[in-house]
Amino acid sequence: MCGIVGYVGPGSAIGMLLGGLKRQEYRGYDSAGIAVIDDAGELETRKRAGKLGVLLGDLDGDSMPDGHTGIGHTRWATHGGPSDANAHPHLGDGGRLALIHNGIIENFAELKQEVLDAGGVFTSETDSEVAALLVGSLYRETGNLTDAMRRVVTRLEGAFTLLVMHQDEPGVVVGARRNSPLVVGVGDGENFLGSDVAAFVEHTRHALEIGQDQIVTIRPGSVEVIDFSGAPVTPHAFEVAWDASAAEKGGWPSFMKKEISEEPEAVAKTLIGRIHDGAVTLPELEPLAEVLDDIDRVVVIGCGTAAYAGMLGKYAIETWARVPVDVELSHEFRYRDPVLSPRTLVVSVSQSGETMDTLMAVKYAREHGARTLAICNTQGSTIPRESDAVLYTHAGPEVAVASTKAFVAQATALYLLGLYLAQRRGTLDGAQIAAQLAELQDLPDKLDQVVDAASARIAELAHWMGDTQSVLFLGRHVGYPIALEGALKLKELAYIHAEGFAAGELKHGPIALIEPGQIVFVIVPSPRDPSSLHPKVVSNIQEIRARGARVIAIAEIGDVAVVPYADEVIRIPFAAPLFEPLLAVVPLHIFGMELAMAKGLDVDQPRNLAKSVTVE
Ligand code: F6R
Repeated sequence: MCGIVGYVGPGSAIGMLLGGLKRQEYRGYDSAGIAVIDDAGELETRKRAGKLGVLLGDLDGDSMPDGHTGIGHTRWATHGGPSDANAHPHLGDGGRLALIHNGIIENFAELKQEVLDAGGVFTSETDSEVAALLVGSLYRETGNLTDAMRRVVTRLEGAFTLLVMHQDEPGVVVGARRNSPLVVGVGDGENFLGSDVAAFVEHTRHALEIGQDQIVTIRPGSVEVIDFSGAPVTPHAFEVAWDASAAEKGGWPSFMKKEISEEPEAVAKTLIGRIHDGAVTLPELEPLAEVLDDIDRVVVIGCGTAAYAGMLGKYAIETWARVPVDVELSHEFRYRDPVLSPRTLVVSVSQSGETMDTLMAVKYAREHGARTLAICNTQGSTIPRESDAVLYTHAGPEVAVASTKAFVAQATALYLLGLYLAQRRGTLDGAQIAAQLAELQDLPDKLDQVVDAASARIAELAHWMGDTQSVLFLGRHVGYPIALEGALKLKELAYIHAEGFAAGELKHGPIALIEPGQIVFVIVPSPRDPSSLHPKVVSNIQEIRARGARVIAIAEIGDVAVVPYADEVIRIPFAAPLFEPLLAVVPLHIFGMELAMAKGLDVDQPRNLAKSVTVE
């Protein structure tokens, strides 16, 4: 949700903080602020409502004194609207201490009353300020920042990452986390804290994971970690697999455009090292080895786009491995008392690895005896740490808020899982596995063709549709999750009413929405596949055409049967039925982006949304 960064070292604190915030702005962008201890030993802060650019402009016009210790924050408002006063950092100990917070402090009202009773004064409507005032007053008593932090966090309920610094302790930043992300970047004579590795990857690729309920104290030459009881902890170290340039726009007009162009690579990289001699090799699943042959059910959980990738996984895993698969939204799963057993494999799908709904669902599943596998794109994130095993997607950093390349990488990982289970369980023979893997390996080239061929025509269509009020998306079988994904992208990017339907469901209600001029995208299955639903989808097109719909079909190259019934046909290369949706989704990603651009909207940072939803 919010992005945080902390720095201690010889460099310019302001430079380090602003650089880290720029690379994390996608996490939250309704206000931003920094605090530094300047070279005169004074605590200086600057914070502004609005995107990071507002703070940058402010600092350009009126610079602030620099130093070598600092913390910075981009906010996505929860308690208290976006305003200068509610932006972080918040101050404690009479303005000598600065604190930033990501998450929600659920018992803040009770703590606030306690602070008010003791004469404390609040200047914001946030839940975060109570933590600043509490740490400040304990620091006054003890003079030990780490200990003051420890004594406060043990009283907090909810989800939080907190960073704090005090002007009496220059060269020290203390962080703490519960149910909210925090990683350390270990430099040479300098150290960093961040919500994710993007905060510091420009300066170091050596990183440490901070576990649940742990506190970290960074100084230029040391990193010390303790748990909430004060016991020392040895953090897990890892190397960041991508470099800073992967998270830069690199000449593209938007991260979204860049990331759509990277969809072929996201699939290719997710396959690398996992296919040998026509068989799937997934050593990452070793921690689950003794249960994988015995599972009687798979439950895939995720939110939004990740859940749609999960739906594709259901079709593939059931077809190949013949094990029943349910797909559920994490927040629904978690609160409905699901039936779980040690033979249930719960597979979470998350780009960020921090989505609170999914994290809580994973914990719930483990507590209730299920085994858990994370499919995740972000190293050092929380969901993999809370799971029995992790299968990383290698889509590279996804910065645009709306997920694109992560979706195709997630589907690829789920397909690999399906084939791996089929291999272990003997539900497909070697030749069948090899044939499906060959299809997977062909995808990057075919995706390249789609990106190249579809972009210009879709941009034209989108510009022509700039005033459209409503768009519908239809698909059957694996085309159905793609219809849902196309609609979600249009809602979140172009702020247009959009709905995705299973085409077979049309006659059961949604067809009433069709009136003359209604735009409907239809994902058309291949006519070449003998079990194909092609004729049924063509019938669906005729039904809506007869009622005046304007149909844009996404159909295979050479499918002439669809031509008489569609106003426009966007072509994709032939792929076997289960693989076709990974191609069909690309024109819809491009369409959402282009329509948003035609409306003059910010495609990387749509309103009201944040990249990583770390609150429930
Ligand atoms: C839509 C989108 C969201 C995310 C969802 C889950 O474009 O980006 O629906 O897919 O919030 O996020 P992760 O995958 O980080 O758990």
